[in-house]
Amino acid sequence: MLGAQWGDEGKGKIVDVLSGAFDVVARYAGGHNAGHTVIIGGQKFILQLVPCGVLRPDCLAVIGNGVVLDPMAFLKEIGKLRELGVDVDRQIKVSNRAQVILEYHRMIELAAESAPGRKKIGTTSRGIGPAYEDKMARNGLRVVDLLNEDLLKTHIENACREKNTVAQALFGTHPLDPARMYEEYARAAEQLRPFVTDTAELLNQAIAAGKSVMFEGAQGTMLDIDHGTYPFVTSSSATAGGAITGTGVGPTRVGTVIGVTKAYVTRVGEGPFPTEVHDRAGEVLRERGQEFGAVTGRPRRCGWLDLPLLRYSNMINGTEWLVVTKLDVLDELPVIPVCTGYAIDGKPVDTMPADVRGLELLRPMYTELKGWRSSTEKAQRYEDLPEEAREYLSFLERESGAKIGMISTGPDREQTITLPAFEAALRALHA
Ligand code: IMP
Repeated sequence: MLGAQWGDEGKGKIVDVLSGAFDVVARYAGGHNAGHTVIIGGQKFILQLVPCGVLRPDCLAVIGNGVVLDPMAFLKEIGKLRELGVDVDRQIKVSNRAQVILEYHRMIELAAESAPGRKKIGTTSRGIGPAYEDKMARNGLRVVDLLNEDLLKTHIENACREKNTVAQALFGTHPLDPARMYEEYARAAEQLRPFVTDTAELLNQAIAAGKSVMFEGAQGTMLDIDHGTYPFVTSSSATAGGAITGTGVGPTRVGTVIGVTKAYVTRVGEGPFPTEVHDRAGEVLRERGQEFGAVTGRPRRCGWLDLPLLRYSNMINGTEWLVVTKLDVLDELPVIPVCTGYAIDGKPVDTMPADVRGLELLRPMYTELKGWRSSTEKAQRYEDLPEEAREYLSFLERESGAKIGMISTGPDREQTITLPAFEAALRALHA
């Protein structure tokens, strides 16, 4: 299950709804830059690191090796979940191979984002990028290493020497104290220890025992380090491929791919966004859709549904099923523009440009569909939706090349329409 665009598609709610039918939910990428908002019985939860499956008492929540884990953020989050009555000690497992975000990752990121000559990405300032940089440079600290006091001490001493020098020379940042840092992380490590295990073993054993596992993506396809709008991306593999490397489960074990798309499009942070609207219509989407970042509170940029982008996303992920969220946000619009193709200098463009300049030059070509101007919030079945809403969805399905399996018309678990064919397909996967 993954985001089809730039994140915030509403995956949290969908994972929460579907996790009732799964034994395990595993996160495979990103870190506490993600903010999954779920509302249950009117109560709002924002989960950043722990997979949304944790809100179901029978579901095991796994943080896979592809995740970058900030131990302090993790402990804070499980503290809140504990207060809400979640049995975190029984339900949560953390990969011993996940990379650790340390204090200097945040320090470097904050300084680098505003440094002269650097492209501003508009990151979430959680140290995500620098932690993945260290991972790829084979200079990172994994959870298993965090649990080893000697290794932790040496790592922090060496890293602080290097990072402090670089940060001070390049950005004039105050140096961090390795002794204090060691004390703090060693303390956190002891609280983290009971959750840590070899999650690749755990997941493969669960699958071998006939249990069902959902891989929960974070961010979205267009923020993927390889396939997104580089360099305006996050630093991990948010696409379907990331579920494999980020958990240690082989591709032949994956039954299907579900893409979550909003009925329109949003983006937070910098970077190209072909169907962005800057007029009153964009404000209507932002207000009705409450489009403000779950982690940073930043207003999200809003735009119309982009079918070439969705086709691209479906191709990269091999998406079979789509979940369309926030359909209700369009309820009052008399007409709804939908992008069906792109042109550069008046010439049609068939493939997604790889470079930012090309992406910025794209001019969307729109078709206007008729709005339904009535509430979809209480619809329980597809047939309950107004005719124009069904036409909007059929158009989306036809043009995107994947089947619609679910539709969400509000934030609550109950405001969800599941199509019978999707229900049957999920049942067959579990059989
Ligand atoms: P980073 O992941 O903090 O490095 O930020 C890189 C880019 O990804 C920025 O444009 C962020 O706004 C965006 N981003 C990261 N996480 C999320 C998310 O969960 N939802 C939406 N955008 C995100």
